[in-house]
Amino acid sequence: MRKQIVAGNWKMNNDLAQTETLITELKMQYSPQDAEIMIAPSFTNLWQSFNTLKDHAIEVIAQNMHFAESGAYTGEVSASMLKSIGIQTVILGHSERRAFFYETDELLAKKVNAALQNGLRIIFCFGEELKDRKSGNHESVVESQIKNALFHLEASAFENIVLAYEPVWAIGTGETASPEQAQDMHAFIRKTLANKYGKETSESISILYGGSVKPNNAKEIFGKPDVDGGLIGGASLNAEDFFAIVNAF
Ligand code: PGA
Repeated sequence: MRKQIVAGNWKMNNDLAQTETLITELKMQYSPQDAEIMIAPSFTNLWQSFNTLKDHAIEVIAQNMHFAESGAYTGEVSASMLKSIGIQTVILGHSERRAFFYETDELLAKKVNAALQNGLRIIFCFGEELKDRKSGNHESVVESQIKNALFHLEASAFENIVLAYEPVWAIGTGETASPEQAQDMHAFIRKTLANKYGKETSESISILYGGSVKPNNAKEIFGKPDVDGGLIGGASLNAEDFFAIVNAF
């Protein structure tokens, strides 16, 4: 059975006090789940969040990291720094990192390697832009994003990788991919993985959907056979909405 996962990506939202308030609200909303639940606060609030949720089933994860182990990279945080405060999972390749911080497939391959070498689990994000969808190139764009950043890995590495398909045109726009569009792409991703690594690997990897998942559409999207959960932006900033999404499983 593939793991079901709902991860909240808080992005650059919530100062320390707001982070503490939201975590308290999340704890109140929480009930035991089959799905793994994760939240990704900003770097400045990771340590505090991690400690507050240390003995709780909600996992605190990071939004990003640098590929180098240490050194002259002003403003950056390494995989081993994340590990040293107890973080086990990192999001890599989010479309905002690709668009605003010029992260390329090549750079992401280095980050993937560094995360795995440090024993971190990765939520690896990718997805096409609107122009790719309109021109019918969405599958080939996604295929090359996956190949360029991940296909140098051994099959065993995928035990520590979760994929997140996030069509750029659906992120923060209120426009979601239809459940059918999500299913079609997830099935395509699984097929792409199967061609390279075989069916066992492709069937065991969790593939999340991200892009305007809300309480009113989560059930239909999560109901699709190849959708194993969601990466949630906006709606993860509200405890009630976030748990309404978690409970959609
Ligand atoms: P959204 O963000 O839910 O606000 O569209 C999703 C994401 O960026 O992961």
